[in-house]
Amino acid sequence: MTATDLAITFASDTRGEALPRQASPDTEGSTADGDAVSSSGEKPRLLDLFCCAGGAGKGYHDAGFDVVGIDINEQPNYPYDFHQSDALAYLEKHAGEFDVFHASPPCQAHTALTKGNRRRPGWTDEHVDLIPATRDLLDEIGKPYIIENVQGSTVRRDVTLCGVMFGLQVIRHRYFELGNWQITEKKQHVKHSGRVAGMRHGKWYDGPYFAVYGDGGGKGSVEQWQEAMEIHWTKDRRELAEAIPPAYTRYLGGQLMNWLKSGGSQLTSTQMTLQDV
Ligand SMILES: C[S@@+](CC[C@H](N)C(=O)[O-])C[C@H]1O[C@@H](n2cnc3c(N)ncnc32)[C@H](O)[C@@H]1O
Repeated sequence: MTATDLAITFASDTRGEALPRQASPDTEGSTADGDAVSSSGEKPRLLDLFCCAGGAGKGYHDAGFDVVGIDINEQPNYPYDFHQSDALAYLEKHAGEFDVFHASPPCQAHTALTKGNRRRPGWTDEHVDLIPATRDLLDEIGKPYIIENVQGSTVRRDVTLCGVMFGLQVIRHRYFELGNWQITEKKQHVKHSGRVAGMRHGKWYDGPYFAVYGDGGGKGSVEQWQEAMEIHWTKDRRELAEAIPPAYTRYLGGQLMNWLKSGGSQLTSTQMTLQDV
């Protein structure tokens, strides 16, 4: 019997209990269009930690996951089930209710935009780096996870994604660390060509890309940002600036779904070389 002959038991079937990854032999385990489902027809559950308005969550939802978001701040624009909580406290208590995890710890401690400040004498960094504690807890839980962060962060560069790889009007490189699973379909980086649109020295310059960060001054209209990110459910510039484009997690979520369907056999059958860009 191979791993794919086994029906998959998801957290939705055993909420609150320790999770067996596979159940008894059965022909169930995927829908007609290929999404993994449990023997009771439920979708795998993904906990979206540090979710903000749900850029990452939307991509996982599109890939077929049942998504629940956690953020320390109220997130009225989050499009799925949401709980306001400290992410690690919630994770510690509720890990058994989920099959897979995504975490986007706050990135202000790492972003290039605050790097200059950190070098100034007397400047203290008030932004706590939550990446190590998040990784430690997810490793302890032992289920598949993805941690996302910006260039310059301590997240391992198992996968680096860029908007141009998905035909988006943002460059927006992001690192993704994969724990307890691997992807099989590598995406190639695509060369950027053309300038970033925006105001420079009082003059507007057109270009194929938008710089979606900060308060937006001189970097394009809200509608241009929404279009560039493919995020249309919020008009809040801060939420757009914090988000990753759903296209990134639609791709990663699809890969993760394949991994779940395979029962994790790719871990032993395929030696992946993940290429950074
Ligand atoms: C970079 S944003 C996440 C963006 C999100 N992944 C997306 O694609 O839209 C980080 C979020 O972490 C939240 N946050 C900061 N500290 C937190 C904590 N201790 N627990 C939960 N959320 C926290 C912030 O409120 C912020 O919304």
